[in-house]
Parts: sequence; structure tokens; C-alpha cells
Amino acid sequence: MQIIHLANTSREWWREAVIYQIYPRSFASFGGGVGDLQGITSRLSHVADLGAHAIWLSPFYKSPQKDGGYDVADYRAVDPIFGNLNDAKNLIARAHELGLRVIVDLVPNHTSDQHEWFQAALADPSAPERDLYWFRKADEAPTDWLSVFGGSAWTRVCDRADAKGSPWDHDDSWYLHLFDPAQPDLNWAHPRVREEFTSILRFWLDLGADGFRVDVAHGLVKDPSLPNYQYHWDMVSGGDLLPADVPPPPQWNQPGVHDIYREWRAVLDEYEGDRALVAEAWLNDPLDAKLYVRSDEMSQAFNFDFLTSPFELAEYREVIANSLREMDSVGAPTTWVLSNHDVVRAASRFGLSKTGKGPNGIRPFEEQPDPELGRRRALAAHALGSALPGSIYIYQGEELSLPEHMALPDELREDPAFFRTKGAEAGRDGCRVPIPWEADYPAFGFSPAGSSWLPQPEEWKALAVDVQLADEASSLNFFRKMYRLREELGLGRAQLADAEDSYLHYVSSLPGRDDLHIVTAFDDPVPLPKGAKIVLSSDEVAPSTVNDEQVAPNSTVWYTL
Ligand code: BGC
Repeated sequence: MQIIHLANTSREWWREAVIYQIYPRSFASFGGGVGDLQGITSRLSHVADLGAHAIWLSPFYKSPQKDGGYDVADYRAVDPIFGNLNDAKNLIARAHELGLRVIVDLVPNHTSDQHEWFQAALADPSAPERDLYWFRKADEAPTDWLSVFGGSAWTRVCDRADAKGSPWDHDDSWYLHLFDPAQPDLNWAHPRVREEFTSILRFWLDLGADGFRVDVAHGLVKDPSLPNYQYHWDMVSGGDLLPADVPPPPQWNQPGVHDIYREWRAVLDEYEGDRALVAEAWLNDPLDAKLYVRSDEMSQAFNFDFLTSPFELAEYREVIANSLREMDSVGAPTTWVLSNHDVVRAASRFGLSKTGKGPNGIRPFEEQPDPELGRRRALAAHALGSALPGSIYIYQGEELSLPEHMALPDELREDPAFFRTKGAEAGRDGCRVPIPWEADYPAFGFSPAGSSWLPQPEEWKALAVDVQLADEASSLNFFRKMYRLREELGLGRAQLADAEDSYLHYVSSLPGRDDLHIVTAFDDPVPLPKGAKIVLSSDEVAPSTVNDEQVAPNSTVWYTL
């Protein structure tokens, strides 16, 4: 038995919270087929009843929606498709009433090309706003950098679709966009950019936001000498797939980003109530993640090593031990994340022949996951992660075991990755399909209009919230029970030991209660010890034929002795 994590004595709320991610376009609507803030407010009790402590809202700012709202035109305004600032205030107030904290998504790496700064920069090559972005005069693209969504990371002003007949029709300068051309990268060396974002932080903190999820936190600072770097940096997995001898990228994970987060930490600390900063950083060296969560920087970082880990014993054991060790070394909690709006849903990803990060979307002519296996493994992975110390991120619909929508027609796709890879990648629309609330209503109750911006698969009828609430053995009721037990047993703050068995076996300890054993079985069943009292089993929802004396393959059991 080896202790791999000591019980946590600090009590900031985010250290052991269950945080539920809401993707506003697809959670719930109060009107038409697109989700909105009033819709979210009206359905928040679902999240509170699940046992979550906080919500993280993906962007709802004014935006042309060229990248699902991660292209912000005005950081202090709500997009009319989602409502208005008053709706945001009501949402925050209702969440607080229900005991839910609210984490707002901050998108500081780039603005929308419709942001007033970029519009001013486009209109006049001598405008001071040009310096707020990365404009360069050159015959060719200034570097060979690739956009995360495919193609070059540079666009010539005169090549923009809106150039014809505009004042910038003959402007041959280039601008940098690590994502879509509609998302020009900001120049964080400029004091105006820094001032603007601290002011934006204060704006939302004053409105009651309890924290921020920081989009592309590893991207803000670039090596100003702009050296070439021909490698593709992947969404979520970063440089994981690159050969080991590839040099560090000049556009990602530059040391200068940490000064920015120190500045922001100081701003948040002026406010009461343990406001939190959460880093979304895709890094190639897992040891880099801890740098973002040193005590004077962010509060926590998404654990993408856990998300991208193959569903295998050795890999899980390693990623769990490493994550706890590295985060403990800087006093930060580990997070356990399995899905978000950028990856194929866990219930499908785990059903593929090769588990891990998975492809960027799945279409009917690509390998189809085994739905039962995927669901079982996703539940097992959730039951494992939920027993571990630290905090949990759950993406809307995971509690329902929603699979990826794999039959979406291409003409409905919106993800820029689909267009920029010329269809080589399906993109992320299949994990962003509106939630099924009531089985017998049009669009499964997503909107009063009976419509949803992406069609929901017919099979989701059986997965609707009302159906699952009425079924004791449903995935939803399993998650509710699991989070209730996690809270009662203080699993998020407990000590953790690796029992050093030939299978995955941890022991969670906290004074005043029995030790809780956590066993995950992968391909082979694991025998349970005599007298084991089962506290929770992911097999309750996805029953197998294996008897009670064993942990069935692809499941997790919590037990006491
Ligand atoms: C968000 C993505 C978005 C990208 C660019 C990300 O990491 O999660 O959805 O496309 O940042 O803003």
C-alpha cells in the first residue's frame, strides 16, 4: 500500500467541487431552437439536484458565432440569441439561490474579427489598434504556423471574404489567427490588451461571477521573433502525438503567460469568496500543467491527461499517480475530466477499438463505436474519477450517458474545423447536440418551439431526463447517487493510497469513516474480497452477467470491508 495523496485541509470550495459544464446553445431554450440564458435558468435545478456545486458556462457573449461563441465581439454584452445582461444577472442569482457557483468562460487569446478593435485595425493600416493584434507586412505568410482548425495560421487582409469593395481590398498585410480567420490573435505584449482584460474580469466579478475558465490559457504569449514551427498543435492533446525531439513551440506555453495569470490572481483576490481561475491548457509535457496552478496563479487546470488516457490499467495508474503528485507539489487540486464540448462524447469514445483522445468527430462511414461497451466504460471511468481527491468536471449530458451524434448531415455542421480541414475531420458538432429533457415533446422538450438547432437522434428518446428520472437504474440516478456519496464520504478531500495490487485498486481514507476501496476492472473481472460491502457499482446501470463476487469487466466498484 502506498499513499499517493494526503488528505486536504484547505477548504476553498473549488478544491473538491463537482463542476457542471453548460454549453448555452444546447442546454435548454426558452424560445426557439437555440438554447438561451432564460432556458438555462429554468433548468438549473437539474444541475443542483445532480449534486453539482458549480456551473461553468461556455461563452454567451455577443458573437457572430463563427466558433460557437469562442469568437467574442463584445466581452461585456450578452449575444441577443442568448438574451441580455439582465438574463445573465438572473441566471447568476438563481444559481446562487440553489447553492451553485458560476464560472464564466473568458476568451483572451483572440477576439472576434467583428470586435471593434479589429474592425478599426482593418479599416486603417495606421490605426493604433493594429498593434493590439499580430499584423505583419510580408510577401508570404510570416511563418509556417498552422491553425488548430487546419490550414495556415495567417490570412492576408485582402483575401478576407469581406474585402471586395471594402477599404481593405488592396491591403496585403497578414494577421495571425491560431484558430479561425474570424478569431484574430491578440498581442498580449500591449498594455491596452492587459488593461482591457483586467477590466473585463472586474466587470463579471462585480456581476457575481465566482470564477473564470480561461480559454487557450497556453496561447496568449508568442515568441515575438516569430520563428517557424511546422507542427500541428492538437485540440486538447496539444503536442502529445509529436515525436519527442520536436522543439518547444514558439506560439504555445511561453513563460510570459504566467505573469498574466499572476496579475489576474491579484485581481480575483481583491474579491470575497474564493473566486477561481481554471486553465484550459493543452501541453505536451504533463509536468508543465502545474506551472499554471502555482499558488499565485490559477486555482486549477483541466486534467487532459486523464481525458486522453486510453482505458487501460497501466495508463490509468500512471496518469492518476502523476496528476496527484504534480498538483500536490504546488498545492493545487487535481481535476478529473472525461468530456467537454471539444471532444467526442466519452460514452462513444470509450467504445472505439482504440481508446484515448479519439478522432475529431465521427461520421457514419467512419469506425462506429460499440455503444454498450462505450457506455459501460464511461460509467466506470466516471465512478473511478468521482472517487478520487480533487474536483470533477462533467459536461452536460454525460449524466445521461449521451452518445455522440454520429449521423449529423454535413450540411448542418458549423464547426470551423470541418470547413478548414475540407471535411477531413467531422469536427465537434456531434457532441454539441441539444439535451433531451422530455421524451414525449417535440425536440424532446429542448425548446417551447419544439425545435433544436441540431437534430437529436431518435434513440435519445429513451435517454431523456424525464425517462431517466423515473427509472431507478438509470444513468442519471446513478450519477445523483454517486455525487451524493462522494460528498457524504468526503472523497474529494480524502487521503488516497494505491493498494499496489495487480489490478487498479485505491483506498480512500478520512478520519471518522471506514476506508473506501475503489476497484476498476478493465478487460478481466476482479474478484471482490470476502465480506466486501458494495457502496456503489457502475454495473448497477450497465449490468453484466458477472456475479456479485466480482468486479465485472469495464466497471468500477466502491466497497468497504
Ligand atoms: C475552446 C474551443 C475553441 C477554441 C478557440 C478552445 O479551447 O474550448 O471550443 O474552439 O478554444 O477559442
